[in-house]
Amino acid sequence: MNQKILNTLIALLLSPLLLLYHTAMKAIAVFQGKLKGSHVSFKQADPFSQVKVSGHIENLAPGKHGFHVHQYGNLLSSDCANCGGHFNPTNAEHGSRAGTNSHAGDLGNITASKERFSTFHFSTTKISLFEGEQSVIGRSLVVHEDEDDLGKGGFPDSLTTGHAGKRLDCAVIGYDKE
Ligand code: CU
Ligand code: ZN
Repeated sequence: MNQKILNTLIALLLSPLLLLYHTAMKAIAVFQGKLKGSHVSFKQADPFSQVKVSGHIENLAPGKHGFHVHQYGNLLSSDCANCGGHFNPTNAEHGSRAGTNSHAGDLGNITASKERFSTFHFSTTKISLFEGEQSVIGRSLVVHEDEDDLGKGGFPDSLTTGHAGKRLDCAVIGYDKE
């Protein structure tokens, strides 16, 4: 048996063991500006699992608000302008959370009640908390003033930002305690 085949076999045999080395990863984004009192938690069991996202966002106008991971965790500007565009490691066009060929950062919309808050839970494979191309650690989470049209609105910015309007607030996604 040649060495290359042997190495491949060893790697295949060890891969289930490598999975065991990963402990679950947790992260949190805490809003400190216009949406103070709001936060979003992330949890992922291992690099091959979905990321569970749960959040509570306050001080929102009733209705839908675009909700994205943006490229940079730079909160220097109070209008979140330094957060860059949507996190987009695959050079895709803007779309929906369910879309397979959309920005990794496209987490869709959150919906605020008449009482002006949104509590939500969903799971996604678009992003990761583990190192690699999909990792969102150190990037920012942005809540927008308007609804994200998921790329379907036909506006000039539908395929880049979902026409979601101003950035209400932004928060850095940082590691959280296990
Ligand atoms: Cu955004
Ligand atoms: Zn996008």
